[in-house]
Amino acid sequence: MVDRARARARELGCDAITPGAGALLGLLAAAVRAHAVVEVGTGAGVSGVYLLRGMPPDGILTTIDLEMEHQRAAREAFAEVGARANRTRVICGRALDVLPRLADAAYDLVLLDADPVQCERHVEQGLRLLRPGGVLVVNQALWHGRVADPAQRDAATTAMREAAKRVRDDDRLVPALVPVGGGLLVAALPTSVPMPAGLSMGVQGGGEVRPR
Ligand SMILES: C[S@@+](CC[C@H](N)C(=O)[O-])C[C@H]1O[C@@H](n2cnc3c(N)ncnc32)[C@H](O)[C@@H]1O
Repeated sequence: MVDRARARARELGCDAITPGAGALLGLLAAAVRAHAVVEVGTGAGVSGVYLLRGMPPDGILTTIDLEMEHQRAAREAFAEVGARANRTRVICGRALDVLPRLADAAYDLVLLDADPVQCERHVEQGLRLLRPGGVLVVNQALWHGRVADPAQRDAATTAMREAAKRVRDDDRLVPALVPVGGGLLVAALPTSVPMPAGLSMGVQGGGEVRPR
């Protein structure tokens, strides 16, 4: 099923989440029993399909994209996997216009997979939306392998690097940077006191983003 969504993503020139990163995303949704999920960057619905697969049957995926054509493709993908229409809330708009309208601390999982340059601002909004016990996920966190290379200073790479630092330096969070696909930055907002400071969210094999 996801193959057809991937084919539509390719036709639209939309970079869909990789199978490995998608599998981890589904696992996270299942592990936190994600009833309420926000996704920034619907694309053609590939990541949405993985999320829906992991979420409980009554879970609702709120997904945001500024391209109506991408969202049309995503709706097809959701229908193909048998997701009832009331399980998805597909919102067309710019993330920074839509996210502030969503409720504080009301979501179990937030996936950011849209404009890298805006990623840090999306992280701010995403953290506001998370309930304690929830998980923030940033796809493409290694930005085509450029984030770990200090010589790369283009706007997208710099912004993704800053977003990763923002997450790393937040003492409320328990983060990890998983080198799957284009890099999945995962950060849990614990219900209780987080781990002691000083532990890295290291990347194996790809160099550290930088331990604190
Ligand atoms: C990499 S694709 C998302 C892929 C999707 N998550 C998947 O795996 O199938 C990025 C998407 O973000 C959307 N996008 C880019 N900037 C955005 C913004 N500022 N607000 C909302 N959506 C945005 C693009 O239209 C595109 O569909």
